[in-house]
Amino acid sequence: MRIDKFVSEQAGVSRSDAKAMIKKSEITVNGAVVKTADAKIDPERDIVAVRGKALSYKQFVYIMLNKPQGVVCATRDGLSSTVLELIPEELRRKGLFPAGRLDKDTEGFVFITDDGALAHKMLSPKNHIEKEYAVTLEKPAEERYIELFSAGITIDGGEKCLPARLIMTEKSDVVRLVLHEGKYHQVKRMMEAVGNKVTHLRRVRMGGILLDESLSSGECREITGEELSELFKNA
Ligand code: URA
Repeated sequence: MRIDKFVSEQAGVSRSDAKAMIKKSEITVNGAVVKTADAKIDPERDIVAVRGKALSYKQFVYIMLNKPQGVVCATRDGLSSTVLELIPEELRRKGLFPAGRLDKDTEGFVFITDDGALAHKMLSPKNHIEKEYAVTLEKPAEERYIELFSAGITIDGGEKCLPARLIMTEKSDVVRLVLHEGKYHQVKRMMEAVGNKVTHLRRVRMGGILLDESLSSGECREITGEELSELFKNA
């Protein structure tokens, strides 16, 4: 791989910034200063350092973000801040995107990666992973919702949902809802279909990965290898 491409991807800088760093002799490969942007390296073997600090090579990154309200799940937005702006510099790199979206006013678990193949697998209807939401309602939840949702409820516009699992909690106006798909505004529209309204929504689980409750709103961390192996659990 070309050194400028490697530095750009692994240090999360533009290709022209990587070239400028090379010009300034800030990049070394196995201790020797690199002189040209088209020098080739082996990402698996060579030790590339920026101003003396080694870049650890990872083909892909997987990030768990605790999304706050008011931030959009997009790579770019003219008006609002995006989830990508919340990623700290050390985890930032080209090609990151949110795998699955939450509404602007929804909080909680957003999975961010640059692994297109894994994201595609996660989002494909064939093996749509479970997504669990903590839902606060305007009015107390009713037992009848359990049956209606598990049978696959039809929401506005005649769209039929896949069977979903509703779990009551000790609070009458708070439920957990487990979905296997991600239709537009799905939780809100399902609750409207049974005559209720969502007042607060938070995603707490994707597949077998729970949102890390030690992450404050707006914080993120890398997903561990062990967690990643649980992603397709229950799919
Ligand atoms: N369902 C919704 O209505 N909104 C979300 O953000 C996610 C699921």
